[in-house]
This record gives sequence, structure tokens and C-alpha cells, in this order.
Amino acid sequence: MQDRLLPREFGIGRLRRVHRTDLAAFQAYRALAELGRFQGWLPMSFAEALQFLDDMHRLPLFTRGEWVQIGIADAESDLLIGDIGVYLSEDGTCSEVGFTLAPAAQGRGIATAAVRETVQLLFAATGVSRVLGITDQRNLPSIRLLERVGFTFKERRSAVFRGEPCIEWVYELLRASQRGPDCT
Ligand SMILES: CC(C)(COP(=O)(O)OP(=O)(O)OC[C@H]1O[C@@H](n2cnc3c(N)ncnc32)[C@H](O)[C@@H]1OP(=O)(O)O)[C@@H](O)C(=O)NCCC(=O)NCCS
Repeated sequence: MQDRLLPREFGIGRLRRVHRTDLAAFQAYRALAELGRFQGWLPMSFAEALQFLDDMHRLPLFTRGEWVQIGIADAESDLLIGDIGVYLSEDGTCSEVGFTLAPAAQGRGIATAAVRETVQLLFAATGVSRVLGITDQRNLPSIRLLERVGFTFKERRSAVFRGEPCIEWVYELLRASQRGPDCT
């Protein structure tokens, strides 16, 4: 059942499970400091990354209370070019997404399309009523992406990230059936 949900094609890319053969590609972009600047993860050793890819390959999609990492792959080569973390709340009503795309793949709408596809998958495969995207207010590419997908600004909140105070912007996308008449 789980494996029927992926892969999912979205024209210029593919959502798929990550695999240990993605190790070199995964490490190449995850090692870049600028990509992790506003992210909850830190670069991993090769051994840690291999374990992570194995774990994420096996973890059932959309388990309550768990983050699962889904791969973004190039449509033609199937090379891993990014990943999307998806969290499902303990009560199953809410999800959160976080996304990363290798610099060489950026600037073509691939991450936007991948997040849009992930949100559609979440609404189709789970009972969540809303998906959140939480981003540092300085992370303009991330904010632009969320707004392109249709997320709307919900609130700003103070946070401490890696010991530094920062402001996070919380974006939300409601299931279509729960959007009011003034929502698009
Ligand atoms: C956030 C991140 C994935 C956005 O990458 P991105 O390349 O800007 O996003 P996309 O792949 O959707 O491409 C969109 C860009 O391509 C442009 N573009 C070109 N063709 C496009 C198309 N057909 N469709 C949509 N956008 C297109 C858009 O205008 C946009 O550029 P702009 O924001 O300067 O206007 C990337 O910056 C990243 O990995 N950052 C580090 C990780 C991070 O901080 N993640 C967020 C944590 S919540």
C-alpha cells in the first residue's frame, strides 16, 4: 500500500523514496553550508547519511509523530537533486513540509512543483486538514516558493535557532474543502 504512493511524476521531476545509492548525490548538496543555513539538519558523515537514507527508505510514509524524507529526482536521469521532509502530527490532522534543492537544479520551478505534488499526495493519502511551511523570515526563496504553491501567511513567531534569536514565518495551506470563499 505505502509503496503505491510513490514514485509520483510531476513533469520536470519525480518524487520518490530515497535509497542508499543516492548517497553521493545527497552528500554533495547536504554538505553545502548555504543550503543548511535555515534548516533543522546539519551535514552528516557518510556513515550517518547512509544510515539516514536506509531509515528513510524503510520508514512508512506519513506515520503520525514522525518526519519522513522523500527524494526529489531529475525526471530523466532519476538522480537525486533534493528532498522534502514531511511531518505528520500525532493526531493526524496537520502536516509540515521542509524542502531542499541542490543549487544546480534551482531556478527552474522544480522545488515548487515538488512541494505542490507533495501537498496533493498528503491531502489524497492522509486525513490532514492543513499543511504548514515554517521558514526564517530572511529565507526569501523559501517564502516565494510557499506563496507560489498557494500557502498563505498565518503568523510570525520568535524562535531561537542554533543559539541565535530569529523570526519564523508560519505559512499554511488548507485542504480545499476547508478554505473559505476568500481563499484561492
Ligand atoms: C528553498 C529552495 C528549495 C528554493 O529553490 P528555488 O530554485 O528558488 O525554487 P524552484 O525550484 O521552485 O524555482 C523557483 C525559481 O525559479 C524561477 N522559475 C523559472 N521557471 C519556473 C517555472 N517554470 N515555474 C516556477 N518557477 C520558475 C522562479 O521565478 C523562482 O525564482 P525566484 O524565486 O527568484 O522568482 C532553495 O532555495 C533551497 O534549497 N534553499 C535551502 C534550503 C531551505 O532553506 N529550505 C527551506 C526550509 S523551509
